[in-house]
Formats: sequence, C-alpha cells, structure tokens
Amino acid sequence: MSKDLEKISPTAIMCAQFRKDYTNLPYAKEISEELEKLYANGKVNYEKNFTGMLNIAIKTLSKIYPDILIMPVIFEGRYYSTNETLKQLKDYSILELASGFSTRSLELNTEDEFFIESDLEKIIKLKEKIVRNIKKEKISKNHHFMNLNPLDYESLKKASELYQKSQTKKPLAIINEGFFMYLDKDEQKVFRDNIAQFLQDYSPEGSWLTPDFIPERLSKTNFNPIINWIRDIVKRTSQKKTGRQFTYFKDEEEIQKFLNEGGLRGRLRQFDLVQKLSSIQKTKIDPNKIRDLERLYGLYCINLKN
Ligand SMILES: C[S@@+](CC[C@H](N)C(=O)[O-])C[C@H]1O[C@@H](n2cnc3c(N)ncnc32)[C@H](O)[C@@H]1O
Repeated sequence: MSKDLEKISPTAIMCAQFRKDYTNLPYAKEISEELEKLYANGKVNYEKNFTGMLNIAIKTLSKIYPDILIMPVIFEGRYYSTNETLKQLKDYSILELASGFSTRSLELNTEDEFFIESDLEKIIKLKEKIVRNIKKEKISKNHHFMNLNPLDYESLKKASELYQKSQTKKPLAIINEGFFMYLDKDEQKVFRDNIAQFLQDYSPEGSWLTPDFIPERLSKTNFNPIINWIRDIVKRTSQKKTGRQFTYFKDEEEIQKFLNEGGLRGRLRQFDLVQKLSSIQKTKIDPNKIRDLERLYGLYCINLKN
C-alpha cells in the first residue's frame, strides 16, 4: 500500500470532531471522548495535527461568519442520505470502506446485521478500540473490523471470506463517504472496477452507495466572497497536508459515463433533510441556503448493469 494514502487519515479525526461539535448524531460525543482519551495517552496527537488546527481556526472564524460551517452540515446530510437509502433497500449486509470514526456501525449494527467496517490499519485499530470501549459486552458478534484498502482487490477479497463465512443471504451494501474525492482519476477507475468485480463475484444483487460523486461546480458553491476565500484556504491546506488534490466530476453526465464504462448504472437520490439536520440549528446557518445545496449531500445508489 502506498504510504502516501495514510496522509489522508487525519481527516477522519476532523470529521469526528465536526460531528461532535455541530451535530446531535448518536454516538458522535462518545466517539470524540474516546478519541480524546487516546490523545491523552499519546496515541493520537490531534491538536498538533493540521486537522486540529483547521478545526480551531474554523470554530473561531465561524463566530463572525457562521456560513463557513457548511461542511459539518454536508457531513451530517450525507450520513443521513446513506442511511435513508439503506432503509429503502430493506435487506442488506454492510461493508463500509474508509469508515474512519463514523458513527454508523455503532448506530446501525445489531445482532442480526452483518457489518464490516474497514479503513487503513492504523485508523481501523483505533476505531475497533473505541467501539469496544463504548459498546463493551454489547458488541455484536456480527460486527467486524478490517484493515482494507479497496484499491487492492486482494485486500478487498478478505472481506468476501468473512461475508461468505457468515452465511448471510442479504446482499451487500458497500458504502464510502468522504473518500473518493481524494483519489486521482486513475485510482478512481481502479476503485470503481474493484467494486464492480467484487459485486460480480460475491453479491450481484448488492449495491454501492456513495455521496462522494459531486459535480465540480458544486464543490465551489459558496455564500459570499469571504466565505469562499476561507474555504479555499481550508481546501488548500488540506490538499497540501494530504498531498492530494480533490478530484471531482465535471457534471452528472460525466458521473453516468464513468459508471457506465465500469459496467455499472447509478441513480442519484436526493432527500429533503432540512427538518432532520441537527447541524442547521447548531451552526445557525439559514435553512434556505441549505435547500439550495441539497445536491451536495445527494447520494448515488449503484448496481451492476446486468
Ligand atoms: C475524510 S475521512 C472520512 C472518514 C469517514 N468515512 C467519515 O465520513 O467520517 C477519509 C478516510 O479515508 C481513509 N483512507 C484513505 N485512503 C484509504 C485507502 N486506500 N483505503 C481505505 N481507507 C482509506 C482514511 O484513513 C480516512 O479514514
């Protein structure tokens, strides 16, 4: 695995911190508290990390420009879009990729549901520790943690072994949130082809759910020039530190073409979540502005073409 992908990992801490500071998502507070204990033990050095500094800067600036807090609103929105789509699928087992410190497994996993959450080794080890500390003996035997890099098909196949052993008949829902845009065009193709191959080999009725397919035009959406300028600094710092440019699609047509070329078809699902998003109250962003940005937390539900 390329060492360079590990530079993306600190962004998972930033997402966790945003969920704790600006949402009421279940378990957001507990995960963050567990992370803080790990910082105290020296296992994670958040404050000295660039995401810690960005977070502090954003918090301070948001007192004057609350609209810069659009990011946590999008994070909460994409989380609910994924969960709403899962509800519509009804029957599913979950394989979550690049799950970071997401609250999903804690919220959704029950004794009857098969759930693999995965990330790069360092992050998934910390996540397992955190989930076990929170759930204690209540952790489901169907809740698995895996060091998995979806850019490597052999690594992805490890998840298939666990899925087949579990004898669950429920099709897989493969999820990724906040990951795809960090990959370059070639890596995005490898990722797509690996998922298509994986569905073909192990769960042809399964789905790939992702809110990460965003048209370029929307990635630049802004409220006013000052917010735009601040967002640009955040983006550039993040790109410099992770060593990655964000790679978005030109438009919806390019998304469909990309999927089609990989033997997949995707449907965009959008949800009116304005009433549901706790981050809107917490950030004090005008709900009408959020409505205009609904596409930013829309989700693609993707299946094999035939
Ligand atoms: C922005 S975080 C998103 C985490 C989580 N999905 C969330 O919404 O909070 C990006 C995640 O991608 C993970 N990551 C980066 N490269 C990866 C790879 N090749 N395979 C698996 N995970 C990877 C990072 O470790 C990090 O946890």
